[in-house]
Amino acid sequence: MFSIFLRIAASLLITSTACQCETVKTKVLVLGAGMAGISAARSLNQSGLTDFVILEGTGRVGGRVWKVQFGGKNIDIGGNWVHGISDDNPVWEMVKSYNMTGIVSNWDSIKVRNSSGHDVTSQWHTVLVSLDEPSEAAYDLAVERNATGQPDMPLRAALKSCGWNPTSSMEKAVEYASYDWGYGEEPDVTSLLRGELDPTPELYGESEYLITDQRGYVYIIKQMAESFLAEDDQRLKLNKTITTIQWSDDGVTVTTKDGSRYTADFAIVTFSMGVLQSNSVEFVPGLPNWKREVIFRVRMSLYTTIYMKFPSKFWDDDEYIVYVGERRGYFTVWQNMEAEGLFPAGTNILQVTLTAEEARRVEAQSDQATQAEIMAVLRTMYGAGIPDPTDILVPRWGQDPFFRGSFANWGVGIDDEGLRKLQAPVAGRLFFAGEATDLAYGFIHSAFFEGARVAGAIATCVGGGPCEEGYQPPRRGCTCPAADNFDIQATVDNGSCLYPTSGGDRIVPFSTSFYIMVVTAFIWNDMKWH
Ligand SMILES: Cc1cc2nc3c(=O)[nH]c(=O)nc-3n(C[C@H](O)[C@H](O)[C@H](O)COP(=O)(O)OP(=O)(O)OC[C@H]3O[C@@H](n4cnc5c(N)ncnc54)[C@H](O)[C@@H]3O)c2cc1C
Ligand SMILES: *[C@@H]1O[C@H](CO)[C@@H](O)[C@H](O)[C@H]1NC(C)=O
Ligand SMILES: *[C@@H]1O[C@H](CO)[C@@H](O)[C@H](O)[C@H]1NC(C)=O
Ligand SMILES: *[C@@H]1O[C@H](CO)[C@@H](O)[C@H](O)[C@H]1NC(C)=O
Ligand SMILES: *[C@@H]1O[C@H](CO)[C@@H](O)[C@H](O)[C@H]1NC(C)=O
Ligand SMILES: *[C@@H]1O[C@H](CO)[C@@H](O)[C@H](O)[C@H]1NC(C)=O
Ligand SMILES: *[C@@H]1O[C@H](CO)[C@@H](O)[C@H](O)[C@H]1NC(C)=O
Repeated sequence: MFSIFLRIAASLLITSTACQCETVKTKVLVLGAGMAGISAARSLNQSGLTDFVILEGTGRVGGRVWKVQFGGKNIDIGGNWVHGISDDNPVWEMVKSYNMTGIVSNWDSIKVRNSSGHDVTSQWHTVLVSLDEPSEAAYDLAVERNATGQPDMPLRAALKSCGWNPTSSMEKAVEYASYDWGYGEEPDVTSLLRGELDPTPELYGESEYLITDQRGYVYIIKQMAESFLAEDDQRLKLNKTITTIQWSDDGVTVTTKDGSRYTADFAIVTFSMGVLQSNSVEFVPGLPNWKREVIFRVRMSLYTTIYMKFPSKFWDDDEYIVYVGERRGYFTVWQNMEAEGLFPAGTNILQVTLTAEEARRVEAQSDQATQAEIMAVLRTMYGAGIPDPTDILVPRWGQDPFFRGSFANWGVGIDDEGLRKLQAPVAGRLFFAGEATDLAYGFIHSAFFEGARVAGAIATCVGGGPCEEGYQPPRRGCTCPAADNFDIQATVDNGSCLYPTSGGDRIVPFSTSFYIMVVTAFIWNDMKWH
């Protein structure tokens, strides 16, 4: 143990100056201490690369996994589900190993009420069943378009073409709960291919585990951090708001608000797409266009879970309560936090979720105004006699400069090339990881895998293996990358493909058919822009 610390101490050249700032040199800077950052640092450490520094702007570890006190309970106001409870899901493995309390969500435990308070649950089930066929057809359409290399389309267009065209408030509520409530945005702006073909349910199953553990979901991230960080480890620096990231072929220099400077060979950027889109962190020089464009094409959704504490419980016992009103997405999905298996009876906490524009609107107004809106809805459902809450909590992920939204919802048309652009490093120095850069974007497990992926790439490079340099655009119109005469540097393709005659063990980037698909999609994208 002692020698490790000696080594670390030797590699950190710390200079004290007049201000509360420092100048530090290290091998790898991990920017952000959410799941992606902690996962990256842990992987670096595991591969023996212990000379790193994690910089985090807030005063805590966990990022969008965040436990706060409310109504006498610790409540997760960020991520709170494990998506897929199979042993292949590392997040589930951790949650299970720490015996974290929670329940597998039961979507059948639901009560649906309309705006005159009537129980319309049976109508709900009828409409839900009528969505089955169109939604399966939309999924099949996604699989087919993906397999044949046809371009993406909005989920809305796919649903319509599969015969789903909601007009009644019940149909709109069913659609909202089935799509918006997951993606955080309307089907109109959600990608058919990327949304419907999310590999998560395929990989880990469709069960979802809602965590109520009083240690908070963040417990798993803290445990990961403690596995490689000593107490007061100088490699984790909190309250360090990054303002500038200077990069070149030689390395990276990061400046923080307090005037500190951190220099390294590599940096791993784990900020949310909302932060990257906001320009609150300045890249010097600016990021290359191929990177900037794809960052802006990823949508940052907003998913706002509002918690209320009441003097007594007056709502239904089911896990979920749905309000069917005239306005689409207006306080539609509610969660009874003391449904069986969740908080004990008498906790009297009710939760309601808003997404997208409704969420943005509510973030911008006072909590009293939001409470008044919520009580007006609840009184149509449960009568005028119900009490006002004693407390309300309205998280503001969208306004928070460290997040600027909740999670990524890929925009229409981000193809495999787009994914490669999101994941590719810049100049072989600046690496990008986070929930949004994973094919299975949006989740805590996405962030876990992406952190490990880039840490692996850096460790391989430092260890003398191949180094990822950056994004290589495919040669436009070139259809024979596997050929012997394929030259990635060439700008003109003369169309004659000379394939190897013997089996050879040449490493080619990808198969020809995949390449044709990518090129087709690339050209299509390009056409769209012109
Ligand atoms: C309301 C909500 C509900 C969600 N529900 C679920 C769910 O049920 N299940 C699930 O799997 N996922 C859910 N998610 C998504 C999940 O929480 C995220 O995908 C995941 O936590 C993201 O991890 P990350 O490391 O990629 O990003 P982050 O957690 O955002 O980590 C990035 C870190 O960078 C820091 N940072 C940003 N800017 C700066 C700066 N300028 N200087 C220094 N530091 C900076 C941030 O403070 C943060 O700690 C939810 C998210 C939200 C907000
Ligand atoms: C972190 O690295 C140190 C030094 O190589 C090693 O002893 C320790 O086991 C590592 N911890 C983890 C969790 O990988
Ligand atoms: C970070 O800042 C918060 C609020 O100013 C403070 O309470 C906390 O002690 C600080 N933490 C560190 C590690 O500096
Ligand atoms: C988790 O619970 C099981 C069974 O209840 C118990 O055997 C185990 O020791 C617990 N593990 C932890 C880490 O608390
Ligand atoms: C609510 O449902 C009941 C029973 O189906 C119906 O009579 C009533 O008109 C509905 N109210 C509204 C506002 O739709
Ligand atoms: C989509 O297409 C890619 C490339 O052909 C393939 O690897 C992938 O498995 C497909 N995804 C699905 C869900 O069919
Ligand atoms: C095309 O280019 C390759 C590689 O430069 C060369 O070997 C081949 O002769 C060229 N073919 C034609 C038809 O020009």
